[in-house]
Amino acid sequence: MDRISRFKLVEETKKIFKSRFSVDPAHTSSAPGRINIIGEHTDYNLGLAMPVGINRWVCASISHRVDSQIHVFSKNFNKSLQLDLIGNIETTDLWEKYIVGILSVVKQRFNIKFGFNMLLYGNVPIGAGVSSSAALEVAILGSIKELYQLSITTNEFLDICSKVDNDYVGVKSGMLDQYVSLLSDKQGPMLIDFSKSSHKNLKFSLKKENFILINSLVDRKLARSDYNVRVKECREALELINSKLDQSKKIYEIDCEDLNYLDRHSIHYKRLYHVVTENQRVYKLLSAIKEGNINMVGKILSYSHKSLSENYEVSCNEIESIIKVSNYAPGFYGGRIMGGGFGGCTVNLVDSDRLEEFESYVHYHLCSKYSLNVKIERVEFSDGLKSH
Ligand code: GLA
Repeated sequence: MDRISRFKLVEETKKIFKSRFSVDPAHTSSAPGRINIIGEHTDYNLGLAMPVGINRWVCASISHRVDSQIHVFSKNFNKSLQLDLIGNIETTDLWEKYIVGILSVVKQRFNIKFGFNMLLYGNVPIGAGVSSSAALEVAILGSIKELYQLSITTNEFLDICSKVDNDYVGVKSGMLDQYVSLLSDKQGPMLIDFSKSSHKNLKFSLKKENFILINSLVDRKLARSDYNVRVKECREALELINSKLDQSKKIYEIDCEDLNYLDRHSIHYKRLYHVVTENQRVYKLLSAIKEGNINMVGKILSYSHKSLSENYEVSCNEIESIIKVSNYAPGFYGGRIMGGGFGGCTVNLVDSDRLEEFESYVHYHLCSKYSLNVKIERVEFSDGLKSH
């Protein structure tokens, strides 16, 4: 089930939809999970990031109903949700919050009279830091948009997703995940500038290197983790600098010199130091790729990890063991913790000719030295949201 083509996954979703609801779906949307090559915890700080969609997707098949009922079935969780367009509903499961959140925001903005049947199915690993939640949101909203022929611009689309995360799920996240799940291009990663809400699709390809994910299988539940605390710490740090400067600089205008207004040993200094240098690393990595300097690309990934671990403090013991072992593995150029952190995956750049050696080395040493079982995933780039 893990590795399946987009086409097959969509066909499978349509088939399950038909057997569940006894009609063919009117539309099916598929939205990818993502890797983030560099630029971590920069999105809500209006900085830079270089993500790309991956060949793991969430699909949402949908058809009209004649009444005002909403019937949703999640094949992955084997659970259903029924609600009425009119009225509110209490949700318990996280996946339900996304449906109810999206519906509530859509209802506030558009006049929707009839309900729908929806089937959700996908192969994006859940809780692994590869953005299964954003893929779910983007697929759900994509299918609703098609069904009701809603005219939603890209910015509105992202805005709805962000409102759902912030107000219904309770994670004060930035736009990284939805951005890439919606707009990714399989030709290469995106370079996103969150201060301008703009991006470029980079047309580079690595010739002989692969991005490999090592899933620690430590579930990082963003809403309950310290993610929101990091968001708050960065805002406080900015306020502190501005109060000392007697200015109102935006966070993306802060540079290393401004950091001198903070106590070097404080949490606030460490957090913003990560953000400022991570933005610099995005550009450095871009140049290294353009120059074909793969060793440098690897080094920059590893510097990013060090900063995420020591300054931003979003790593954990299992991830540290993975990084230690990977450092000695054959074909490894560099790697780092990816996504929100506190578990999940590392993203690693590995020589394509040595993938098997790399994988068996990592499995063997993590198991024998640290009693750690991990899941290794080879990923390819994918386009963003598609309607089928
Ligand atoms: C999670 C959030 C994103 C982003 C990353 C860290 O994936 O959903 O908005 O902040 O963490 O870069």
